[in-house]
Amino acid sequence: MKLSETPAWKVLQEHKIKISNLHSFNLFQEDPIRFEQFSLKFKSLLFDFSKNRITQRTLDLLLILSSERRVEEYRDSMFKGRKINKTENQAALHTELRGGANGIHSEKIQKALLKIEAFVSAITSGRKVGATGEKFTDIINIGIGGSSLGPQMAITALKAFHQKGIRPHFVSNIDGHHLLETLEKLEASTSLFIIASKTFSTKETITNAESARSWVINKLGKHSVSKHFVAISEDTINPIKFGISPTSIFPIWEWVGGRYSLWSSIGLSIALTIGMDNFRSLLKGGNEMDIHFRTAPMAQNLPIVLALIGIWNINFQNLKSLAILPYDQRLEKFPAYLQQLDMESNGKSISLNKEDIDIMTAPIVFGEPGTNGQHAFYQSLHQSPEAIPADFIIISNPAHSMKTHHDQLLANALAQTKALMQGQTLEEAKGNINFKLSGNRPSNTILIKTLDPISLGRLIALYEHKIFVQGIIWGINSFDQCGVEFGKQIASNLEKNMRLPELSLSLDSSTIGLMKQIRKWQN
Ligand code: F6P
Repeated sequence: MKLSETPAWKVLQEHKIKISNLHSFNLFQEDPIRFEQFSLKFKSLLFDFSKNRITQRTLDLLLILSSERRVEEYRDSMFKGRKINKTENQAALHTELRGGANGIHSEKIQKALLKIEAFVSAITSGRKVGATGEKFTDIINIGIGGSSLGPQMAITALKAFHQKGIRPHFVSNIDGHHLLETLEKLEASTSLFIIASKTFSTKETITNAESARSWVINKLGKHSVSKHFVAISEDTINPIKFGISPTSIFPIWEWVGGRYSLWSSIGLSIALTIGMDNFRSLLKGGNEMDIHFRTAPMAQNLPIVLALIGIWNINFQNLKSLAILPYDQRLEKFPAYLQQLDMESNGKSISLNKEDIDIMTAPIVFGEPGTNGQHAFYQSLHQSPEAIPADFIIISNPAHSMKTHHDQLLANALAQTKALMQGQTLEEAKGNINFKLSGNRPSNTILIKTLDPISLGRLIALYEHKIFVQGIIWGINSFDQCGVEFGKQIASNLEKNMRLPELSLSLDSSTIGLMKQIRKWQN
């Protein structure tokens, strides 16, 4: 049965029509304890969803939908390591990386963590040095997608925890400018390259790694490769062929999806930058959210409620986007990180039952830190014909003592969520119809006490599970990415064509036209 034909879905649709005239501003006027009713707290993270167009009945019906879609059963299957990634016949066990059911790592994961720990200690103490005997000062993570976005986001967010003497860099894009502008800042003798690729076959990563290796060889000689390169990969053969020593290969397993991998050895750059204790705290934060997700009743379960609010906005309010708005510069990479997590996981239109899906799935995720975003795209948040639901992420206590700045930042965040909810009447707009704002624009606020490894771990795991729950409700596999794989195949065919004297006639006229123009300009 199609999701849109299920009983809970139909009741929600009727309910949506019944409450279509509700305005969230009026809901607040009528109910002084609306915030208490529609907010949840987990440790030092407060989730306020009261500014959505919902009533208690909406929430109750969404919870019925969740039961009907067997969210708890699928959740338990994931934690038990069942092969829920059916198209790739794999489990999705990233939760094991942060301690699983009881916060205790399995032997294999414990071993991997000890290997990371020993490496971090050897690098930061200077016991492990480069080919010229100098201490490493720069680490360069070469990887893309999940092998880059997560570590980059976490490292940027946790600046206050950076160890002295280690500068992290990230090269992901196949665009030569990216590698070159990074190499320009480096001394080969003090640079350590981490080739982060689960498959060790992703074209961008391997091409960048090969160019970086040529650069190192050019500066320090061939013998230096094994000293200046390490790998994180499931593949142990190709890294060795590349010149990496077998002892410098950090493991990752098939049950760790790329976009869920920052908790694995892919987090090596994080551990090197913030230190092992802080890396373990990040894992602990993730584990705490896992335990909450596994054990809290549905109505109090943050990932489940966050997911259901999203379903309500996307599928019943027909709002197709999601703005991620961290009011903290340190979280500047968080929107891009969530963009992959959400859109690569749930941007799908075929169900696990191999049926076409007739409803919207993953939202279009975008965002910028506040207040920058306010001066860029917020006009559209306030007045575009289709409302854009937003998640505001606010950190109560900053890592600096510039009170004026922080007061202004917080005031802006709270002002925006309020303005989106209440709007501006014609009277308030002094009769100027162009300045009338409808309000009633849904937003969530996630308020966190301080941004530290443990709270970041909780926040990331909250979103991972939210996305997983939405995938269950939509009946899709959140753990594959056939569209991305298809793009890779086409690129590989076209790359061959780039070098042929005659373009293949089997190509479409647009591709031929563009390639011809490129050739003309290149000559
Ligand atoms: O973007 C597709 C993808 O397969 C991601 O899921 C993954 O994070 C990324 O490519 C990189 O893959 P790998 O770690 O194998 O190089």
